[in-house]
Amino acid sequence: MTTLLIRNAVVMTMNAADHIYTGDVFIEGNRIKQLGERLEIADADRVIDAGGKVLLPGFVQTHIHLCQTLFRGRADDLSLIDWLKERIWPLEAAHNEDSVYYSAMLGIGELIRSGTTTILDMETVHHTESAFQAIKESGIRALSGKVMMDYGTEVPLALQENTQKSLQDSVDLLEKWHGAAEGRIQYAFCPRFVVSCTEQLLTGVRDLSEQYGVKVHTHASENVGEIAMVEAERGMRNVVYLDHIGLAKPNLILAHSIWLDDEEKRIIRERGVKITHCPGSNLKLASGIAEVPLLLEQGITVGIGADGAACNNNLDMFQEMRLTAYIQKVKHGPAIMNARTVLRLATMGGAKVLGLEGQIGSIEAGKLADLQLLDLEDFHVYPSFDADWHSRVVYAATRGDVDTVVIDGQIVMEGKIVKTVDKKVVLK
Ligand code: GUN
Ligand code: FE
Repeated sequence: MTTLLIRNAVVMTMNAADHIYTGDVFIEGNRIKQLGERLEIADADRVIDAGGKVLLPGFVQTHIHLCQTLFRGRADDLSLIDWLKERIWPLEAAHNEDSVYYSAMLGIGELIRSGTTTILDMETVHHTESAFQAIKESGIRALSGKVMMDYGTEVPLALQENTQKSLQDSVDLLEKWHGAAEGRIQYAFCPRFVVSCTEQLLTGVRDLSEQYGVKVHTHASENVGEIAMVEAERGMRNVVYLDHIGLAKPNLILAHSIWLDDEEKRIIRERGVKITHCPGSNLKLASGIAEVPLLLEQGITVGIGADGAACNNNLDMFQEMRLTAYIQKVKHGPAIMNARTVLRLATMGGAKVLGLEGQIGSIEAGKLADLQLLDLEDFHVYPSFDADWHSRVVYAATRGDVDTVVIDGQIVMEGKIVKTVDKKVVLK
């Protein structure tokens, strides 16, 4: 097994005790083997001297559309449904095998460059094979799946699927990719949102996700127009409807969930449904402000995602963390959410959303080695010993500070070059 020794870093473990120390981390194969202030390791295949740098768990982003990376800059003046109809769905319908591959590679390059090591991704209807191929080659840890859309007066015919075929295509991809790359890749069913799915499709997803033991990733209660459509057509609010179908379970992950009423929150809490907060997208599409502090207070598991490059122009978790904090501070006052809480959402929060809290999200012996090393050389802090590391990282670090990224024990980025991606992203 190959070994990697990182020496002399400021290690922010993000473990339950939030331990921070200056010292070493030793990695054997794809796992963290040992932590300590000065490890006695005589021999390692690779030693990185990280003196003066900060070592953090890689970010876990729980809502991304890699297929939309190529659609950047298309959401300045429309709200969700019009934006999908006019800007996004025609482009998704025009995707081909190559464009999905390059869209994914470009997105993954940005994600790794900004310290993200695990994603929950939702692709388009077709060519999802290309996205899995890019995920495999890039080295990123990912749960992904084809989007499912078999209904909707607004959905272009080119993207509307036959119900059985949508389910069968998903299962075919699942059987090929779930557990691939030594477990680094997982499949997740992705019914896009209630607006684009028949009850038959959602029932099929319920049964298949149970049969295969995989996640279900969807959008819910993002926008008031979307909610009105669901109420008009199904006679219920989003989460009540998903519960009525039998989908409201611990494997269900809801993106956005801004406009939840008390009954929906109760269902989410009692059934163990997970939520992904997407602050940049929620602001740019003017969707609204999610009640993140209240959800956390109620014991609901929350992660953070950038959504697609098409809705917020950015896949940068540093930006999403700051926005998460800023929005709530302006609304509820400065004490509502500190940097420690926000950094936890971006790491362990995401790991919990994905049911991977025993594997990723913190730097602990036995966990998978998914790490980012920040070079914060121009962090002018005086006197430095009483500065709060969480606050420094959340409010002052940028993606340009990410120097090295390790995923599954492999160095995928070093000296700011993403070794596994940058050479491949040459658009034809
Ligand atoms: N709801 C359904 N599809 C989408 C999408 O592609 N992006 C966002 N932000 N919301 C959605
Ligand atoms: Fe989305």
